Amino acid sequence: MTTTAPTKHRHVSEKANRFAESVIREMTREALRHGAVNLSQGFPDFPAPEEIKLAAAQAIHDDVNQYAITWGAKEFRDAIAEKTRWHLGLDVDPEREITVTCGSTEGMIAAMMACVDPGEEVVIFEPFYENYAPDAILSGATPRYVPLRPPDWSFDRDELRAAFGPRTKAVILCNPNNPTGKVFTRDEMEYVAGLCREFDALCFTDEIYEHIIYPRDDREVRHISMAQLEGMRERTVVVNSMSKTYSVTGWRVGYVLAPPHITGALRKVHDFLTVGAAAPLQRAGAFALRLPREYYERLQTDYLRRRDVLLPLLAEAGFRLFRPDGAYYVMTDIGAFGFKDDLEFTRHLIQEVGVACVPGSSFYSRPELGASQVRFCFCKKDETLAAAAERLAKLRRK
Ligand SMILES: Cc1ncc(COP(=O)(O)O)c(C=O)c1O
Repeated sequence: MTTTAPTKHRHVSEKANRFAESVIREMTREALRHGAVNLSQGFPDFPAPEEIKLAAAQAIHDDVNQYAITWGAKEFRDAIAEKTRWHLGLDVDPEREITVTCGSTEGMIAAMMACVDPGEEVVIFEPFYENYAPDAILSGATPRYVPLRPPDWSFDRDELRAAFGPRTKAVILCNPNNPTGKVFTRDEMEYVAGLCREFDALCFTDEIYEHIIYPRDDREVRHISMAQLEGMRERTVVVNSMSKTYSVTGWRVGYVLAPPHITGALRKVHDFLTVGAAAPLQRAGAFALRLPREYYERLQTDYLRRRDVLLPLLAEAGFRLFRPDGAYYVMTDIGAFGFKDDLEFTRHLIQEVGVACVPGSSFYSRPELGASQVRFCFCKKDETLAAAAERLAKLRRK
């Protein structure tokens, strides 16, 4: 496992030298190398929905094989607008407020490159989805990290306020959250929104897990988009994707909703970065986004079941769990096992026990903050979770 930045070569830019390769993606390669059950990278190992695959195959067969319009095929943008209307209650103009990108990954970096100037600050809640730190470096932004603290991953309002200032250009929100599974409450979001308005800051919100939410007995858990809050529509950039909702992470089709002036800038950046996302998959996307609402209900029930299979197994194996309310990950504390840190533990788990997870430090700005945590995902087949259970039974405390 190599988790340090490469040494500087004069052919390599300062920017590229300031971050390492993705640890999450590296864990998948490590899992393959050691034959470990892969509960690291968040992609389903079960088949994508049959009707969506057929729509993609049909699109290729129908010769939708050349460049789509750079900011997205009209039929797909129309479907995105329709879905945004019923799901979020927002009227988004497909001609001026939607950009189709190569996954939400491109959506986020393109949005940041379109909006942020070098030296401006971006507030990031940590632990964070690891892409946001390189996104900040590549767009020239200076990150200001604000902790989310377990067990419920809440933030301290004064700490958040102190991170905002005259140089703040934006805050990045990931809701439902990867890696913690936190679903921000309306109250928390109102507070973030208030700071954005007060400091004239944008909100880049990554909502790719919007449909993966788990009910709780003690309070309502609901996905609220930052764009739905009063006065936020004109300062919010919603990043979304087909990857998680339709179980097609390899398609690389995402989209961004943003007010027209931001969309204009974003479309230029997007055009010169990638020209556009795969045309036949956008046609299939238009089909997928018009699936009936039962599709989304089934998706939730299905992930709830998978969550409730994995969590007890981990608890039994000795992990302390931070129960997720959304997304398909669980952050855990590994203090009980007596390892030096999360890297040593992860190495042991992959190589000796045969289960891959992601070391917690990859979600923090400073490795020591995540040294006692690892993340598991549960977007996996029953057989995969059962195989993990069998292996985890071998895990011993030191
Ligand atoms: C929070 C978050 N954002 C973005 C991505 C990447 O999404 P995409 O496949 O749309 O690029 C992931 C993938 O795990 C994620 O967890």
